[in-house]
Amino acid sequence: VKRQLAARADTKGNIVSKKLRSRAWFDNPENIDMTALYLERYLNFGLSLEELRSGKPIIGIAQTGSDLSPCNRHHLVLAERIREGIREAGGIALEFPVHPIQETGKRPTAGLDRNLAYLALVELLYGYPIDGVVLTTGCDKTTPACLMAAATVDIPAIALSVGPMLNGWHKGERTGSGTIVWKARELLAEGTINDEEFIRLVASSAPSTGYCNTMGTATTMNSLAEALGMMLPGSATIPAPYRDRQEAAYHTGKRIVEMVAEDLKPSDIMTRNSFLNAIAVSSAIGGSTNAPIHLAALARHLGVELELKDWQEHGHAVPLLVNLQPAGSYLGEDFHRAGGVPAVIGELIRQGLIREDAMTVNGRTLGDNCRDAESEDHDVIHPYAEPLVESAGFLVLSGNLFDAAIMKTSVIGEEFRTRYLSNPDDPDAFEGPVVVFDGPEDYHDRIDDPALGITERHLMIMRGAGPVGYPGAAEVVNMRAPSYLLTQGVHALPCIGDGRQSGTSASPSILNASPEAAVGGPLALVQTGDRLRIDLRQGKVDLLIDDAELARRREELEASGGFPFPASQTPWQEIQRSMVGQMNTGAILEGSEKYQRIATT
Ligand code: FES
Ligand code: MG
Repeated sequence: VKRQLAARADTKGNIVSKKLRSRAWFDNPENIDMTALYLERYLNFGLSLEELRSGKPIIGIAQTGSDLSPCNRHHLVLAERIREGIREAGGIALEFPVHPIQETGKRPTAGLDRNLAYLALVELLYGYPIDGVVLTTGCDKTTPACLMAAATVDIPAIALSVGPMLNGWHKGERTGSGTIVWKARELLAEGTINDEEFIRLVASSAPSTGYCNTMGTATTMNSLAEALGMMLPGSATIPAPYRDRQEAAYHTGKRIVEMVAEDLKPSDIMTRNSFLNAIAVSSAIGGSTNAPIHLAALARHLGVELELKDWQEHGHAVPLLVNLQPAGSYLGEDFHRAGGVPAVIGELIRQGLIREDAMTVNGRTLGDNCRDAESEDHDVIHPYAEPLVESAGFLVLSGNLFDAAIMKTSVIGEEFRTRYLSNPDDPDAFEGPVVVFDGPEDYHDRIDDPALGITERHLMIMRGAGPVGYPGAAEVVNMRAPSYLLTQGVHALPCIGDGRQSGTSASPSILNASPEAAVGGPLALVQTGDRLRIDLRQGKVDLLIDDAELARRREELEASGGFPFPASQTPWQEIQRSMVGQMNTGAILEGSEKYQRIATT
């Protein structure tokens, strides 16, 4: 009987017990017909009647790895160790697939699939006899998709990162996955390397199984999942092929069984305090510009209040401590060896920047887990007193061009600073004429055409690349300069847009602009040749066009039927476009957030 009940102490210290939800399938005397049906079919899978009726908790392993998603494929191996941990602790493991998401392989965008994987996983967790779940996370959107689904259903859940690839090397230098592509495409455009060398250089960055070894969206989201309390401490950054990764899988499997007994749920762990901790950690690690989108989505599915302005309020002043590409020089193996996420959190705790009582999956608080953790290599994880960059968090910007956008300040390089931020009278502001591209295809067609007349004073705008315009939002705002400027040494033109950009990019773009052009945001009204002013101190981005002219353009746009974007190619594109919100509020399926804590016993 004891095993059939989840027991935990309530706030007054009384033990409260709750029947496992899987019992409604396998041990329901009121509905013996259905119980028999459920039992005979799961017996068919190889479990014994005795096991299924024993009252052991049923633990799902939500499998995100497959041949379609190489970044997460190692989870197929790790699942065996998760299973052993589950069995050792007295649970029954049932593994099932999650809709695959491969960041670099999905057309038109992997962004389209985060909400689809979320929806499908909610259905599985809700509709099947699952008492707790191991979420196998990794490649960019797989982590938020899994966490969002666990948040909605709110059964005990624990995340297991697949871990980063080993470091990439080329001619004695570290090559980081993703990041090297942005450099290599410039070398190719300048004519410094040929196609063959381009491919070899890029491939050198990905030497093993695992996700991107840079501080891209994958390392960011797994680190933040640990900071949120959803992963065993220290486990986010273990490289995929390491022995310790297998051990983490085993312990994760063991722990979820205990979590079911304790009824420790996502809503107990991911509170507003955990999100504020994650924001501070994001600044200190130099996290991806996709993180604000995913955390906003996760918070909404939990019903936790979190706004874009929280990133500026709680994150901007936090310095960059982790020296990983693209903001710095090292890679995933180095980050792990230097102490990983706990070492960063330990450093922030000693500055009073962490809400230490936030609960985590191991049943202890974040403070207890990380208080004594220290960096073991001060060049990789810097001490707080000697940061790589001061105030390294995101700036949140607004103005007459959009209501909200962000800029990753930790990647503002010397070239950008000298060219745009060196006017002694106005050191944080710059302005110039814009050149406008309508989607990535338009950009690729025209960028190297000298007739465009782009100079080092121009600002490049990418629009039609948001969640509706380019369904899911394309990672295309970090545009390279035209080849004729690259050969003159001009690399850092300011880029602004309603799309996203890869977390592996070192471009200080202004991106995730909401509302996007496709839903009538003012970006739809800009024309090549308009002047734009950006003031980073005031957080303003304004078109220097008078209101009457903007109103005239608005009328013209509406008369023409609105901002044009390509037709949907699949049913899901059409469904997502009809429901998706803007990036500043997480780009979730609007309306889905009303389903909260839906697990029933
Ligand atoms: Fe999958 Fe970078 S492409 S983690
Ligand atoms: Mg990406």
